[in-house]
Amino acid sequence: MLLSSIVAVFALCTSALAQRATAPFTEPKSGITFQAYKHTSGYQFGIALPPKPGNDFIGHLSAPASVGWAGGDLGPKMVGKLLIVAWPNGGSVVGSLRRATRKSSPPPYTGAAKLKPIAAGTYANASHWSYTFLCEGCLADPAVGFAKDAPAGDLGWAAGARAPADKASANAGLSYHNVGAGSIQANFAQAKATGYDAWAAKAA
Ligand code: HEM
Ligand SMILES: *[C@@H]1O[C@H](CO)[C@@H](O)[C@H](O)[C@H]1NC(C)=O
Repeated sequence: MLLSSIVAVFALCTSALAQRATAPFTEPKSGITFQAYKHTSGYQFGIALPPKPGNDFIGHLSAPASVGWAGGDLGPKMVGKLLIVAWPNGGSVVGSLRRATRKSSPPPYTGAAKLKPIAAGTYANASHWSYTFLCEGCLADPAVGFAKDAPAGDLGWAAGARAPADKASANAGLSYHNVGAGSIQANFAQAKATGYDAWAAKAA
């Protein structure tokens, strides 16, 4: 009886962990392969790294139209690391780099890192939207980036149903992540892709 309860609790814990791990995902329009976390809402956050990681990575955020904004966090906590936020604006998608010093709508990041969209994987239609981007310089400062040389590490995710009021502005205020937020176990070793340089060259 006791043993079976322990086994049941263990099974619950491992399935909860499995739900927060990244898995291979190929973005259909660009053909870029990611290690991505997918939430039951349809939200997705993925990363692709070059075989020898440098200061950049390729990222992907996508969600059904019912999700107003989606965020990826370069660490497991909201405060401290770079936050990448995206939302649809008509047929296009706005991306924004943020950094939080407290748990409220995070202000724009003022450092040197930059988001450069990859057009093939960036679009919005009636049911779905997708933002595929080069995060340029995002790993240069370990205080805000993840430890790219480790085989795995903890990232974070967040999504809110309510779109920003000023959708056209990359500095728009965000609503709370009522779809969900939390940490993700990312597999950096398997995020390394031989196609990386060709994909990154398409970023504008
Ligand atoms: C108006 C905007 C936001 C508010 C008011 C807010 C507030 C909060 C609060 C109160 C928590 C504590 C636990 C919880 O309630 O879930 C939290 C956690 C979290 N938030 Fe936010 N947040 C905002 C935007 C964002 C954005 C844009 C991101 C990422 C792109 C993000 C990522 C996270 C993550 C990963 C956690 C879980 C880890 C932790 O507690 O630090 N948040 N947030
Ligand atoms: C929107 O794009 C997604 C992904 O390519 C596709 O599966 C879906 O059918 C499209 N929806 C509409 C309404 O065009």
